[in-house]
Amino acid sequence: MGNKVEGNMSGAFELSEKAAVVTGGSKGLGLAMAAYVAEAGADVMIVSRHLGEGEAAAEAVRRQGRKVLAISADIREPDQCGMVVTKAVEAFGKLDILVNNAGVNIRKPLVEYTETEWDTVLDTNLKGLFFCSQAAAKVMMTQNRGRIINMSSAAAQIGVPLLGPYCASKGGVTQLTKVCALEWAGHGITVNAIGPTYIKTPLTEEWVSDPERYEQIIRRSAVKRLGETSDLRGVLLLLASDASDYITGQTFYVDGGSLAGWPIEW
Ligand SMILES: NC(=O)c1ccc[n+]([C@@H]2O[C@H](COP(=O)([O-])OP(=O)(O)OC[C@H]3O[C@@H](n4cnc5c(N)ncnc54)[C@H](OP(=O)(O)O)[C@@H]3O)[C@@H](O)[C@H]2O)c1
Repeated sequence: MGNKVEGNMSGAFELSEKAAVVTGGSKGLGLAMAAYVAEAGADVMIVSRHLGEGEAAAEAVRRQGRKVLAISADIREPDQCGMVVTKAVEAFGKLDILVNNAGVNIRKPLVEYTETEWDTVLDTNLKGLFFCSQAAAKVMMTQNRGRIINMSSAAAQIGVPLLGPYCASKGGVTQLTKVCALEWAGHGITVNAIGPTYIKTPLTEEWVSDPERYEQIIRRSAVKRLGETSDLRGVLLLLASDASDYITGQTFYVDGGSLAGWPIEW
């Protein structure tokens, strides 16, 4: 006997009645992802250090008709990660989805990094992501259900000159994603990561606007363009929704084929 085929897939990626937290949701990819989960039906809490920017983002996302709040927190501080989750549960009564998106980058040769610069990148991209996940998982365990989605990067797979701490942090995100997935699967929590290549945001704008660098990035891409924030929408909603119950511990690269190999025309 084959497996039974059933169900109406039209609403497979919908998130109505879900409650989400998006760290770094005030701009760039986080703002876009906050809008996508709200558009799919979820209430959203946007986290960033600058409350004014977070509130402006929340106002824009609120137009999707959902409850959208902004909160100021620095995720490098574990206590503040805990506070974010507590406030989200107070506001929404639960927490279904955590998008660990907040991240920073500092570009310079390895021999020039200071300890403070190293700590800034690792504490935001890896330590903060871990303590937000830990706080969220404690709540999700009581619900026996949850979705954690981490922002990794193509830089988790390949080394990139001038991005030493960033590559180390994103490699760490991809590995940590696997361990969280294994430890929390028994509690109904899935943990996956998304790894984009270059998408124009405040983080990358100056870099990708340089014509020579742009050309080098495009040369590596199989589809010959930069990513768009909208390229993240499908995989984000898949991983946030009930459709991904059987998917955990994975990193999904949204990279226009950049990691597939060597896009040479013989
Ligand atoms: N753009 C790309 O091409 C690309 C490619 C691969 C991966 N990524 C990853 O995707 C994520 C988002 O990147 P992006 O390009 O959208 O960056 P972005 O435009 O610079 O936005 C970063 C967000 O993170 C917040 N943030 C930074 N440090 C924080 C902290 N300590 N505590 C709380 N919030 C903090 C920022 O708000 P405040 O400054 O107000 O705190 C902002 O909302 C990052 O993890 C990045 O590594 C991006």
